[in-house]
Amino acid sequence: MKRDLVPALGEAAGAVGHAAGDKPMVRFRGVTKRYGALTVLDELDLDVAAGEKVAIIGPSGSGKSTLLRVLMTLDPLSAGRIDVGGESLTHMERNGAWVPANDAHVRRVRSRIGMVFQSFNLFPHMTALRNTIEAPMRTLGLSRAEAVERAMELLSMVGLADKRDHYPSQLSGGQQQRVAIARALAMRPKVMLFDEVTSALDPELCGEVLNVIRRLGAEHNLTMLMVTHQMGFAREFADRVCFFSHGKILEEAPPQQFFTSPRHERTQQFLRAVREAS
Ligand SMILES: Nc1ncnc2c1ncn2[C@@H]1O[C@H](COP(=O)(O)OP(=O)(O)O)[C@@H](O)[C@H]1O
Ligand SMILES: [Mg+2]
Repeated sequence: MKRDLVPALGEAAGAVGHAAGDKPMVRFRGVTKRYGALTVLDELDLDVAAGEKVAIIGPSGSGKSTLLRVLMTLDPLSAGRIDVGGESLTHMERNGAWVPANDAHVRRVRSRIGMVFQSFNLFPHMTALRNTIEAPMRTLGLSRAEAVERAMELLSMVGLADKRDHYPSQLSGGQQQRVAIARALAMRPKVMLFDEVTSALDPELCGEVLNVIRRLGAEHNLTMLMVTHQMGFAREFADRVCFFSHGKILEEAPPQQFFTSPRHERTQQFLRAVREAS
C-alpha cells in the first residue's frame, strides 16, 4: 500500500516527534453541552496530540458520544471552545473580536475530521464505490476519475475492492463498517472519530473492523478518538484512556496504568462490571 494514501496526516507530528509548544491537534476548553436542564458535557478540557490515539470509555449516558458529536459539529456547544489543527473550530476572529464561527468557517475546519458511527450509515441507494466517491466529488471538487482512483485505493486498504459495486444491503455489517471507514478517509481527514463502531457487530466481524483501525494506526499518523467497549483493544491500541463520568473526564492514564491500577473507585467499579459481563 502507498504510504501517501492519506497524505499530510503525519506532518504535524512527523518523525521529529512532538516539539515542545506544538499545538495539540484537538483542544477542548470549557466545553459544555446541555440539553434543557441536563448537563451532558461539563466544562470539559481535553488536549489530543497529533497522531495520538485516545480511547474513551465510561458508563452509558456519560457523554462519550456527545463529545464526538460536538467535535464533528453535529451538535452546537452550550459553552466553551474547540480547536482543531491549531485553529478554532467553533469561533472566528472578526474585527478583533472572537465571534461564533459562520458556516463556511465551520465547514473548512471540520473538513479535517472524519467520523464513523455505530450504525452503518452508508447511503443505502449507493454502491460501496459511489458511497466513497460522493463527498470528494461534491465537496472537494475531485473529478470522477480522481475520486474513483482514491476510493479504490481505500477500498483495497479495507479489503473490499472486489465489493465496489455492492450496495450496503449486499454487505455484512463488518463490510459496511469498513466501507464507512474508507468513505471517511476519502476526505483525507487528520482526525478520525469512531463511536462504538463494533458494537452492532457479531464478534467475528468485530475483528475485521478492528484490524482496519490497527492498520490505520500503524501506517498513518492519524489522530484518533474512539469510544469503545472493547477493553482489550483499548489497552493494546490506545496511547491514552479517558474515563468519562457525568460529562467529565474522571480519570485518564496510559492504558497499562489505567487498566492495572485505576485510581478512582468509580473507575474500578466500572472495570469490574465490564470484566464480569465479558
Ligand atoms: N439530542 C438529545 N436530546 C436530549 N438529551 C440527549 C440528546 N442526546 C443525548 N442526550 C442525553 O445526553 C446524555 C449523554 O448521552 P451520550 O453522549 O449519548 O452518552 P454515551 O455515549 O456516553 O452513552 C444522555 O443522558 C442522553 O440521554
Ligand atoms: Mg454513545
